[in-house]
Amino acid sequence: MSDPSDFLEDPDPFEPETSPEELPPAKMEPKSFAASLIAEAAVRAEPRPAAPQPVADEPPPAAGLGVPAAPPVVTDISTAEASPAPTEAAEAPEQPDARDAAAAPEPADASQSGETAADAPGEVVPFPAERAASESPRALRILAIANQKGGVGKTTTAINLGTALAAAGERVLVIDLDPQGNASTGLGIDRKNRALTTYDVLIGQASLRDTILPTAVARLSIAPSTIDLAGIELEIGPMRDRAFRLRDALTALAAELGADDAFTYVLVDCPPALNLLTVNAMAAAHAIIVPLQCEFFALEGLSQLLKTVDQVKTALNPALAIHGIVLTMYDKRNNLSDQVVDDVRQFMGSRVYNTVIPRNVRVSEAPSYGKPVLVYDLKCAGSEAYLRLAAEVIQREKDMTERLAG
Ligand SMILES: Nc1ncnc2c1ncn2[C@@H]1O[C@H](COP(=O)(O)OP(=O)(O)OP(=O)(O)O)[C@@H](O)[C@H]1O
Ligand SMILES: [Mg+2]
Repeated sequence: MSDPSDFLEDPDPFEPETSPEELPPAKMEPKSFAASLIAEAAVRAEPRPAAPQPVADEPPPAAGLGVPAAPPVVTDISTAEASPAPTEAAEAPEQPDARDAAAAPEPADASQSGETAADAPGEVVPFPAERAASESPRALRILAIANQKGGVGKTTTAINLGTALAAAGERVLVIDLDPQGNASTGLGIDRKNRALTTYDVLIGQASLRDTILPTAVARLSIAPSTIDLAGIELEIGPMRDRAFRLRDALTALAAELGADDAFTYVLVDCPPALNLLTVNAMAAAHAIIVPLQCEFFALEGLSQLLKTVDQVKTALNPALAIHGIVLTMYDKRNNLSDQVVDDVRQFMGSRVYNTVIPRNVRVSEAPSYGKPVLVYDLKCAGSEAYLRLAAEVIQREKDMTERLAG
Protein backbone atom coordinates (compact mmCIF):
# COMPACT_ATOMS: atom_id res chain seq x y z
CA MET A 1 0.00 0.00 0.00
CA SER A 2 1.25 3.45 -0.81
CA ASP A 3 2.12 5.99 1.80
CA PRO A 4 -0.25 9.00 1.69
CA SER A 5 2.70 11.34 1.18
CA ASP A 6 3.28 9.69 -2.18
CA PHE A 7 0.05 11.23 -3.38
CA LEU A 8 0.70 14.86 -2.50
CA GLU A 9 0.63 17.07 -5.53
CA ASP A 10 -0.28 20.51 -6.73
CA PRO A 11 -2.71 22.46 -4.60
CA ASP A 12 -6.25 22.90 -5.76
CA PRO A 13 -7.71 26.29 -6.75
CA PHE A 14 -8.26 27.10 -3.10
CA GLU A 15 -4.68 27.24 -2.04
CA PRO A 16 -4.36 25.79 1.45
CA GLU A 17 -2.80 28.18 3.89
CA THR A 18 -1.78 25.33 6.10
CA SER A 19 -0.69 21.91 5.00
CA PRO A 20 -2.51 18.95 6.47
CA GLU A 21 0.67 18.03 8.30
CA GLU A 22 0.43 21.18 10.41
CA LEU A 23 -2.98 20.28 11.68
CA PRO A 24 -3.51 18.43 14.92
CA PRO A 25 -2.69 14.75 14.48
CA ALA A 26 -5.47 12.67 13.07
CA LYS A 27 -6.55 9.27 14.12
CA MET A 28 -4.89 7.01 11.64
CA GLU A 29 -7.22 4.09 11.45
CA PRO A 30 -9.22 5.28 8.40
CA LYS A 31 -6.05 5.70 6.38
CA SER A 32 -5.39 2.13 5.50
CA PHE A 33 -8.79 1.32 4.05
CA ALA A 34 -9.34 4.51 2.08
CA ALA A 35 -5.76 4.60 0.83
CA SER A 36 -5.88 1.01 -0.29
CA LEU A 37 -9.19 1.55 -2.05
CA ILE A 38 -7.80 4.50 -3.92
CA ALA A 39 -4.49 2.88 -4.77
CA GLU A 40 -6.11 -0.30 -6.02
CA ALA A 41 -8.75 1.56 -7.96
CA ALA A 42 -6.09 3.68 -9.62
CA VAL A 43 -4.25 0.59 -10.76
CA ARG A 44 -7.37 -1.12 -11.98
CA ALA A 45 -9.31 1.76 -13.39
CA GLU A 46 -9.36 2.91 -16.92
CA PRO A 47 -8.34 6.51 -17.49
CA ARG A 48 -11.02 8.87 -16.34
CA PRO A 49 -13.13 10.20 -19.19
CA ALA A 50 -13.22 13.94 -19.53
CA ALA A 51 -14.85 15.23 -16.40
CA PRO A 52 -16.91 18.40 -16.43
CA GLN A 53 -14.57 21.22 -15.57
CA PRO A 54 -15.47 24.37 -13.69
CA VAL A 55 -14.56 26.70 -16.50
CA ALA A 56 -16.64 29.73 -17.26
CA ASP A 57 -16.94 29.31 -21.00
CA GLU A 58 -17.45 25.61 -20.91
CA PRO A 59 -20.71 24.42 -22.43
CA PRO A 60 -23.05 22.49 -20.17
CA PRO A 61 -22.66 18.72 -19.91
CA ALA A 62 -23.55 16.88 -23.08
CA ALA A 63 -27.25 16.46 -22.57
CA GLY A 64 -27.56 18.04 -19.18
CA LEU A 65 -28.92 16.40 -16.11
CA GLY A 66 -32.57 16.62 -15.35
CA VAL A 67 -35.42 15.74 -13.13
CA PRO A 68 -37.96 13.03 -13.79
CA ALA A 69 -40.98 13.83 -15.84
CA ALA A 70 -43.33 13.36 -12.90
CA PRO A 71 -44.35 16.75 -11.57
CA PRO A 72 -43.05 17.38 -8.08
CA VAL A 73 -45.31 17.98 -5.15
CA VAL A 74 -44.34 21.53 -4.46
CA THR A 75 -44.47 23.42 -1.25
CA ASP A 76 -44.23 27.16 -1.17
CA ILE A 77 -41.54 27.41 1.42
CA SER A 78 -42.29 31.05 2.01
CA THR A 79 -45.82 30.27 3.12
CA ALA A 80 -45.29 26.91 4.75
CA GLU A 81 -47.71 26.02 7.48
CA ALA A 82 -46.85 27.35 10.85
CA SER A 83 -44.66 24.87 12.62
CA PRO A 84 -44.89 23.86 16.24
CA ALA A 85 -43.18 26.08 18.72
CA PRO A 86 -39.62 25.25 19.65
CA THR A 87 -39.50 22.49 22.22
CA GLU A 88 -36.51 23.87 23.99
CA ALA A 89 -34.90 27.20 24.56
CA ALA A 90 -31.40 26.03 23.79
CA GLU A 91 -30.99 27.76 20.51
CA ALA A 92 -28.91 30.62 19.27
CA PRO A 93 -31.49 32.86 17.66
CA GLU A 94 -29.03 35.38 16.33
CA GLN A 95 -26.17 34.91 13.98
CA PRO A 96 -22.85 34.47 15.69
CA ASP A 97 -21.21 37.64 14.47
CA ALA A 98 -20.64 39.89 11.55
CA ARG A 99 -18.23 37.43 9.98
CA ASP A 100 -21.06 35.41 8.55
CA ALA A 101 -22.94 38.38 7.25
CA ALA A 102 -22.03 37.61 3.68
CA ALA A 103 -24.38 39.06 1.17
CA ALA A 104 -27.32 36.80 0.67
CA PRO A 105 -30.48 37.06 -1.32
CA GLU A 106 -33.24 38.44 0.83
CA PRO A 107 -36.36 36.37 0.90
CA ALA A 108 -38.86 38.21 -1.18
CA ASP A 109 -42.51 38.03 -1.86
CA ALA A 110 -43.32 35.65 -4.67
CA SER A 111 -45.32 38.42 -6.25
CA GLN A 112 -42.16 40.49 -6.56
CA SER A 113 -40.62 37.90 -8.80
CA GLY A 114 -43.29 38.65 -11.32
CA GLU A 115 -44.64 35.18 -11.01
CA THR A 116 -48.09 34.25 -9.84
CA ALA A 117 -49.53 30.96 -8.78
CA ALA A 118 -51.63 30.99 -11.92
CA ASP A 119 -48.56 31.52 -14.08
CA ALA A 120 -46.64 28.65 -12.59
CA PRO A 121 -48.70 26.47 -10.29
CA GLY A 122 -46.72 25.40 -7.29
CA GLU A 123 -43.55 27.04 -8.48
CA VAL A 124 -43.53 29.73 -5.84
CA VAL A 125 -40.19 30.49 -4.33
CA PRO A 126 -39.13 32.69 -1.45
CA PHE A 127 -36.90 34.96 -3.43
CA PRO A 128 -36.37 35.82 -7.09
CA ALA A 129 -35.27 32.67 -8.77
CA GLU A 130 -36.51 32.74 -12.32
CA ARG A 131 -33.33 33.89 -13.89
CA ALA A 132 -32.81 30.84 -16.02
CA ALA A 133 -34.78 32.14 -18.95
CA SER A 134 -32.47 35.06 -19.45
CA GLU A 135 -29.24 33.27 -18.69
CA SER A 136 -27.44 30.61 -20.61
CA PRO A 137 -27.44 27.15 -19.06
CA ARG A 138 -24.73 26.63 -16.50
CA ALA A 139 -22.53 23.61 -16.10
CA LEU A 140 -23.53 21.00 -13.58
CA ARG A 141 -21.61 21.11 -10.33
CA ILE A 142 -21.22 17.98 -8.25
CA LEU A 143 -20.38 18.64 -4.60
CA ALA A 144 -19.70 15.87 -2.11
CA ILE A 145 -20.49 16.69 1.50
CA ALA A 146 -17.96 14.68 3.40
CA ASN A 147 -16.38 14.24 6.80
CA GLN A 148 -15.64 10.86 8.28
CA LYS A 149 -16.61 12.19 11.69
CA GLY A 150 -20.16 11.34 12.62
CA GLY A 151 -22.84 13.82 13.54
CA VAL A 152 -21.10 16.95 12.30
CA GLY A 153 -23.94 18.17 10.09
CA LYS A 154 -23.30 16.54 6.72
CA THR A 155 -26.88 15.46 6.15
CA THR A 156 -28.34 18.64 7.61
CA THR A 157 -26.14 20.61 5.23
CA ALA A 158 -27.06 18.44 2.23
CA ILE A 159 -30.77 18.91 2.90
CA ASN A 160 -30.75 22.58 3.74
CA LEU A 161 -28.06 23.82 1.41
CA GLY A 162 -29.89 21.87 -1.28
CA THR A 163 -33.15 23.54 -0.36
CA ALA A 164 -31.57 26.99 -0.22
CA LEU A 165 -29.92 26.49 -3.62
CA ALA A 166 -33.25 25.34 -5.04
CA ALA A 167 -34.92 28.38 -3.56
CA ALA A 168 -32.29 30.50 -5.28
CA GLY A 169 -33.33 29.05 -8.63
CA GLU A 170 -30.88 26.19 -8.95
CA ARG A 171 -32.04 22.71 -9.94
CA VAL A 172 -30.70 20.43 -7.25
CA LEU A 173 -30.34 16.67 -6.85
CA VAL A 174 -29.39 15.32 -3.43
CA ILE A 175 -27.83 11.86 -3.66
CA ASP A 176 -28.12 9.91 -0.43
CA LEU A 177 -24.97 7.81 -0.26
CA ASP A 178 -25.32 6.91 3.41
CA PRO A 179 -26.89 3.60 4.48
CA GLN A 180 -28.53 5.48 7.36
CA GLY A 181 -30.78 7.14 4.78
CA ASN A 182 -31.11 10.29 6.85
CA ALA A 183 -31.16 12.66 3.89
CA SER A 184 -34.00 10.63 2.39
CA THR A 185 -35.96 10.68 5.64
CA GLY A 186 -35.24 14.35 6.23
CA LEU A 187 -36.61 15.17 2.80
CA GLY A 188 -39.82 13.31 3.53
CA ILE A 189 -39.20 10.11 1.56
CA ASP A 190 -40.88 7.27 3.41
CA ARG A 191 -38.92 4.04 3.46
CA LYS A 192 -41.72 2.16 1.76
CA ASN A 193 -41.42 4.53 -1.19
CA ARG A 194 -37.73 3.82 -1.70
CA ALA A 195 -38.29 1.08 -4.24
CA LEU A 196 -35.09 1.85 -6.09
CA THR A 197 -32.16 3.38 -4.30
CA THR A 198 -28.54 4.35 -4.70
CA TYR A 199 -27.68 0.77 -3.75
CA ASP A 200 -29.42 -0.45 -6.90
CA VAL A 201 -27.52 2.16 -8.89
CA LEU A 202 -24.12 1.20 -7.53
CA ILE A 203 -24.64 -2.52 -8.13
CA GLY A 204 -25.80 -1.76 -11.67
CA GLN A 205 -29.41 -2.87 -11.23
CA ALA A 206 -30.98 0.53 -11.84
CA SER A 207 -30.15 3.78 -13.50
CA LEU A 208 -29.77 6.86 -11.34
CA ARG A 209 -32.70 8.38 -13.19
CA ASP A 210 -34.96 5.55 -12.06
CA THR A 211 -34.23 6.26 -8.41
CA ILE A 212 -34.85 10.00 -8.46
CA LEU A 213 -37.88 11.21 -6.55
CA PRO A 214 -39.29 14.70 -6.31
CA THR A 215 -39.43 16.35 -2.89
CA ALA A 216 -41.81 18.88 -1.44
CA VAL A 217 -39.45 21.63 -2.54
CA ALA A 218 -39.58 22.95 -6.06
CA ARG A 219 -36.47 22.10 -8.08
CA LEU A 220 -35.16 19.76 -5.37
CA SER A 221 -35.03 16.00 -6.03
CA ILE A 222 -33.43 13.10 -4.23
CA ALA A 223 -31.92 9.74 -5.04
CA PRO A 224 -32.72 7.91 -1.78
CA SER A 225 -30.87 5.21 0.09
CA THR A 226 -31.64 2.40 2.51
CA ILE A 227 -29.64 0.20 4.81
CA ASP A 228 -28.96 -2.05 1.80
CA LEU A 229 -26.11 0.31 1.01
CA ALA A 230 -24.23 -1.01 4.02
CA GLY A 231 -23.44 -4.15 2.03
CA ILE A 232 -22.05 -2.37 -0.98
CA GLU A 233 -18.42 -3.25 -0.29
CA LEU A 234 -19.22 -6.93 -0.65
CA GLU A 235 -21.18 -6.35 -3.83
CA ILE A 236 -18.86 -4.13 -5.81
CA GLY A 237 -15.58 -4.53 -3.96
CA PRO A 238 -14.20 -6.99 -6.51
CA MET A 239 -15.27 -4.90 -9.49
CA ARG A 240 -12.69 -3.17 -11.58
CA ASP A 241 -14.59 0.11 -11.71
CA ARG A 242 -15.78 0.03 -8.13
CA ALA A 243 -14.60 3.59 -7.35
CA PHE A 244 -16.36 5.02 -10.41
CA ARG A 245 -19.82 3.56 -10.09
CA LEU A 246 -21.40 6.83 -9.02
CA ARG A 247 -19.48 8.90 -11.53
CA ASP A 248 -20.56 6.61 -14.32
CA ALA A 249 -24.17 6.71 -13.13
CA LEU A 250 -24.09 10.52 -13.24
CA THR A 251 -22.60 10.43 -16.71
CA ALA A 252 -25.38 8.09 -17.83
CA LEU A 253 -27.98 10.39 -16.29
CA ALA A 254 -26.54 13.29 -18.23
CA ALA A 255 -26.94 11.30 -21.42
CA GLU A 256 -30.51 10.26 -20.63
CA LEU A 257 -32.04 13.59 -19.76
CA GLY A 258 -32.51 16.71 -21.76
CA ALA A 259 -30.92 20.07 -21.13
CA ASP A 260 -34.27 21.69 -20.36
CA ASP A 261 -34.49 19.91 -17.02
CA ALA A 262 -30.78 20.02 -16.29
CA PHE A 263 -29.68 19.94 -12.71
CA THR A 264 -27.23 22.66 -11.83
CA TYR A 265 -26.12 21.14 -8.52
CA VAL A 266 -25.74 17.59 -7.28
CA LEU A 267 -25.05 17.30 -3.55
CA VAL A 268 -23.81 13.91 -2.38
CA ASP A 269 -24.45 13.14 1.28
CA CYS A 270 -21.61 10.88 2.39
CA PRO A 271 -21.53 8.40 5.27
CA PRO A 272 -19.31 9.01 8.31
CA ALA A 273 -16.43 6.95 6.98
CA LEU A 274 -13.63 7.12 4.43
CA ASN A 275 -14.96 4.01 2.74
CA LEU A 276 -15.84 2.97 -0.79
CA LEU A 277 -19.02 5.06 -0.74
CA THR A 278 -17.13 8.23 0.15
CA VAL A 279 -14.44 7.41 -2.40
CA ASN A 280 -17.18 7.03 -5.03
CA ALA A 281 -18.53 10.45 -4.07
CA MET A 282 -15.09 12.03 -4.26
CA ALA A 283 -14.32 10.36 -7.57
CA ALA A 284 -17.54 11.78 -9.02
CA ALA A 285 -17.37 15.26 -7.50
CA HIS A 286 -15.94 18.52 -8.69
CA ALA A 287 -15.41 19.64 -5.11
CA ILE A 288 -15.90 18.73 -1.47
CA ILE A 289 -17.81 20.62 1.18
CA VAL A 290 -16.59 19.71 4.67
CA PRO A 291 -18.89 20.41 7.61
CA LEU A 292 -16.99 20.87 10.87
CA GLN A 293 -18.85 20.97 14.15
CA CYS A 294 -17.91 23.75 16.56
CA GLU A 295 -16.71 21.40 19.27
CA PHE A 296 -13.44 20.57 20.95
CA PHE A 297 -12.40 17.86 18.52
CA ALA A 298 -13.43 19.78 15.42
CA LEU A 299 -10.07 19.44 13.70
CA GLU A 300 -9.55 15.85 14.66
CA GLY A 301 -9.47 13.75 11.54
CA LEU A 302 -9.38 16.73 9.19
CA SER A 303 -5.81 16.08 8.13
CA GLN A 304 -6.75 12.51 7.24
CA LEU A 305 -9.71 13.74 5.24
CA LEU A 306 -7.54 16.22 3.35
CA LYS A 307 -4.97 13.54 2.63
CA THR A 308 -7.69 11.31 1.25
CA VAL A 309 -8.83 14.17 -0.99
CA ASP A 310 -5.25 14.51 -2.23
CA GLN A 311 -5.05 10.80 -2.91
CA VAL A 312 -8.31 10.84 -4.83
CA LYS A 313 -7.06 13.82 -6.83
CA THR A 314 -3.91 12.02 -7.77
CA ALA A 315 -5.33 8.62 -8.47
CA LEU A 316 -8.94 9.05 -9.48
CA ASN A 317 -10.10 12.60 -10.04
CA PRO A 318 -7.50 15.28 -10.79
CA ALA A 319 -10.11 18.05 -10.87
CA LEU A 320 -11.26 17.48 -7.30
CA ALA A 321 -11.07 20.57 -5.08
CA ILE A 322 -12.01 21.58 -1.59
CA HIS A 323 -14.96 23.87 -2.10
CA GLY A 324 -15.09 25.00 1.48
CA ILE A 325 -15.34 24.17 5.15
CA VAL A 326 -18.58 25.06 6.88
CA LEU A 327 -18.63 25.47 10.64
CA THR A 328 -21.80 24.00 12.10
CA MET A 329 -23.70 24.00 15.38
CA TYR A 330 -22.11 27.20 16.63
CA ASP A 331 -23.37 28.14 20.08
CA LYS A 332 -22.73 31.76 20.91
CA ARG A 333 -23.20 31.10 24.62
CA ASN A 334 -20.35 28.66 24.63
CA ASN A 335 -16.87 30.22 24.63
CA LEU A 336 -15.53 27.02 23.16
CA SER A 337 -17.45 27.67 19.95
CA ASP A 338 -15.58 30.95 19.44
CA GLN A 339 -12.29 29.25 20.15
CA VAL A 340 -13.05 26.57 17.58
CA VAL A 341 -14.06 29.14 14.97
CA ASP A 342 -10.81 31.03 15.54
CA ASP A 343 -8.69 27.88 15.41
CA VAL A 344 -10.29 26.54 12.27
CA ARG A 345 -9.98 29.90 10.51
CA GLN A 346 -6.36 30.10 11.55
CA PHE A 347 -5.56 26.62 10.26
CA MET A 348 -7.72 26.60 7.17
CA GLY A 349 -7.86 30.29 6.22
CA SER A 350 -9.95 31.24 3.23
CA ARG A 351 -11.18 27.72 2.77
CA VAL A 352 -13.62 28.36 5.61
CA TYR A 353 -16.91 29.88 4.54
CA ASN A 354 -17.81 33.17 6.20
CA THR A 355 -21.18 31.74 7.06
CA VAL A 356 -21.35 29.89 10.34
CA ILE A 357 -24.37 27.66 10.96
CA PRO A 358 -25.70 28.25 14.49
CA ARG A 359 -26.94 25.51 16.73
CA ASN A 360 -30.65 25.96 16.39
CA VAL A 361 -33.40 23.78 17.73
CA ARG A 362 -35.55 24.29 14.66
CA VAL A 363 -32.81 22.75 12.52
CA SER A 364 -32.81 19.62 14.66
CA GLU A 365 -36.61 19.39 14.80
CA ALA A 366 -37.22 19.71 11.08
CA PRO A 367 -36.10 16.19 10.00
CA SER A 368 -38.67 14.53 12.24
CA TYR A 369 -41.31 16.31 10.16
CA GLY A 370 -39.64 15.18 6.94
CA LYS A 371 -38.95 18.79 6.03
CA PRO A 372 -35.93 20.96 5.43
CA VAL A 373 -35.68 23.65 8.08
CA LEU A 374 -36.33 26.25 5.38
CA VAL A 375 -39.77 24.72 4.94
CA TYR A 376 -40.31 24.04 8.63
CA ASP A 377 -39.41 27.55 9.75
CA LEU A 378 -38.07 29.88 7.08
CA LYS A 379 -37.41 32.71 9.51
CA CYS A 380 -35.34 30.86 12.09
CA ALA A 381 -31.63 31.49 12.49
CA GLY A 382 -30.75 28.11 10.98
CA SER A 383 -32.73 28.79 7.81
CA GLU A 384 -31.22 32.23 7.42
CA ALA A 385 -27.75 30.78 7.83
CA TYR A 386 -28.32 28.14 5.15
CA LEU A 387 -29.63 30.79 2.79
CA ARG A 388 -26.44 32.77 3.36
CA LEU A 389 -24.36 29.65 2.85
CA ALA A 390 -26.09 29.01 -0.47
CA ALA A 391 -25.32 32.55 -1.58
CA GLU A 392 -21.72 32.06 -0.56
CA VAL A 393 -21.46 28.73 -2.38
CA ILE A 394 -22.79 30.34 -5.54
CA GLN A 395 -20.38 33.25 -5.17
CA ARG A 396 -17.48 30.89 -4.54
CA GLU A 397 -18.44 29.00 -7.67
CA LYS A 398 -18.14 32.20 -9.66
CA ASP A 399 -14.79 33.07 -8.08
CA MET A 400 -13.49 29.58 -8.68
CA THR A 401 -14.62 29.58 -12.27
CA GLU A 402 -12.99 32.94 -12.92
CA ARG A 403 -9.78 31.81 -11.27
CA LEU A 404 -9.61 28.68 -13.37
CA ALA A 405 -10.52 30.54 -16.54
CA GLY A 406 -8.02 33.31 -15.91
N1 LIG B 1 -27.35 23.68 13.18
C1 LIG B 1 -27.86 22.70 13.96
N2 LIG B 1 -28.54 23.01 15.09
C2 LIG B 1 -29.04 22.02 15.86
N3 LIG B 1 -28.92 20.71 15.59
C3 LIG B 1 -28.26 20.37 14.48
C4 LIG B 1 -27.70 21.34 13.60
N4 LIG B 1 -27.10 20.68 12.57
C5 LIG B 1 -27.30 19.38 12.80
N5 LIG B 1 -27.99 19.18 13.94
C6 LIG B 1 -28.37 17.90 14.51
O1 LIG B 1 -27.20 17.19 14.82
C7 LIG B 1 -27.39 15.81 14.51
C8 LIG B 1 -26.32 15.37 13.51
O2 LIG B 1 -26.55 16.09 12.30
P1 LIG B 1 -26.42 15.36 10.90
O3 LIG B 1 -27.26 14.12 10.88
O4 LIG B 1 -26.67 16.36 9.86
O5 LIG B 1 -24.91 14.96 10.94
P2 LIG B 1 -24.14 13.95 9.97
O6 LIG B 1 -22.75 14.43 9.88
O7 LIG B 1 -24.89 13.76 8.71
O8 LIG B 1 -24.23 12.61 10.81
P3 LIG B 1 -23.75 11.16 10.32
O9 LIG B 1 -22.26 11.20 10.36
O10 LIG B 1 -24.35 10.22 11.30
O11 LIG B 1 -24.28 10.98 8.93
C9 LIG B 1 -28.79 15.65 14.01
O12 LIG B 1 -29.64 15.27 15.07
C10 LIG B 1 -29.16 17.05 13.54
O13 LIG B 1 -30.54 17.32 13.62
MG1 LIG C 1 -25.55 12.00 7.80
